[in-house]
Amino acid sequence: LAGPRNKRWLSTESYKGVRDFYPEDQAFLNYFIATCRAMVEKAGYVEYGASILEPVELYKNKGVENEEIINEQTYTFIDRGGREVTLRPEMTPTVARMVAGKRRELGFPLRLYSIPNLFRYERPQRGRMREHWQLNVDLFGSESLYADAEVVGVAYGVMKAFGASDDDFVIKVGSRVWLKDLITELKLNDETAHALRRLLDAKGKMPADEFAAKLAELGVPEKVVLNAAPPADIARMLGEFAAAGIANIVFDPSIVRGFDYYTGLVFEVFDTNPQNNRALFGGGRYDNLTELFDDEPIPGVGFGMGDATIHNFLEVRGLLPAYIPPTHVYVAVTSPELAGEAQTFAGYLRGHGINVAIDFGDKKLGEQIKTATKHKIPYVIVVGPDELASGNFVVRDLATSKDHPLAKEELPGFFLA
Ligand code: HAM
Repeated sequence: LAGPRNKRWLSTESYKGVRDFYPEDQAFLNYFIATCRAMVEKAGYVEYGASILEPVELYKNKGVENEEIINEQTYTFIDRGGREVTLRPEMTPTVARMVAGKRRELGFPLRLYSIPNLFRYERPQRGRMREHWQLNVDLFGSESLYADAEVVGVAYGVMKAFGASDDDFVIKVGSRVWLKDLITELKLNDETAHALRRLLDAKGKMPADEFAAKLAELGVPEKVVLNAAPPADIARMLGEFAAAGIANIVFDPSIVRGFDYYTGLVFEVFDTNPQNNRALFGGGRYDNLTELFDDEPIPGVGFGMGDATIHNFLEVRGLLPAYIPPTHVYVAVTSPELAGEAQTFAGYLRGHGINVAIDFGDKKLGEQIKTATKHKIPYVIVVGPDELASGNFVVRDLATSKDHPLAKEELPGFFLA
């Protein structure tokens, strides 16, 4: 874009596929984080963190799927020391590294969560960004079916914490064990097995007849997928959820997940509204990931859940919380000369625990109130010579235009009530 005198303006757009967080967007992200945090801490999970930067080797382990993720989806660069560095595309390898690194000190079962930002070089589209925040919940050191059930139950609880009801979403549980047995039974070679995994993963995104045709091409009878029964342990788990009155957790053999490291139960959570076709959560059991660091594996089971997909979920249902700024009141000033006194007045309110933003009085009162409205601050107090002389103020509720006349000493009680 050419500006005056041929100056070239910089774009105000953010980098492709990442988001700017203006106050209302940041408030949603904070709500996402606070809601997740409260829910998972209730279940005994504790927070950890790590750097965004990881050596590329962490993601370069064996497996075709991982190769694709590394070659096509990571942000990898060479640092000044010649090392290959990756912006973390997911948290699971990082947490496995951390757990393996302190296996002697950490007590098991170990319940960990974090809410990192992750980077993936994806084609930006609804529910898919190049940077997203992801709740990660992982349970280490137990092979119990109850550990699997706990993690699935936490995913369910997170959806409830956001205000979802059971018919808004479905948790689809699959099994890598079922898949492995199928591959062995049909004697599929590695290439066909890989193609089958990809096809199953894409099942939801194609018409049923196309899926059937592609399955036939691979030499896999359709009925082995359509009639698949859950393995006994998963059947038992689903039975227990059903007995507890939770009916939206179901077996779906086409849930196989893209990452190589899963070894047992795998699951994804889907919105039942067809507008949102991307999974809200993905996770599963991975019993060998810590083997990358040590030959004594620690079993793990967990999931990731993104901020962008839950935003879409809440939006289509009108479940997004209304934005409320942290500022309780805006202090407007009748003239710039009183700005200093307005500061003192604001200081009085702040001293009582009230969050106050002030105007400097260099615009008309109407303009000052418009600013408060734009910022969605609920109340305005006008400071002028009369108010300062009498110590009596008027608090205007901007939503209702109702005025509350109050003495200075009554103001803290009004806002903190
Ligand atoms: P994932 O399926 O790649 O799994 O991601 C989990 C969730 O993160 C997705 O269901 C989606 O909500 C969100 N998500 C993923 N990629 C994007 C993106 N590009 N834009 C927006 N949201 C996205 C994992 O990452 C596993 N490491 C999860 C895990 C933890 N497994 C065990 N523990």
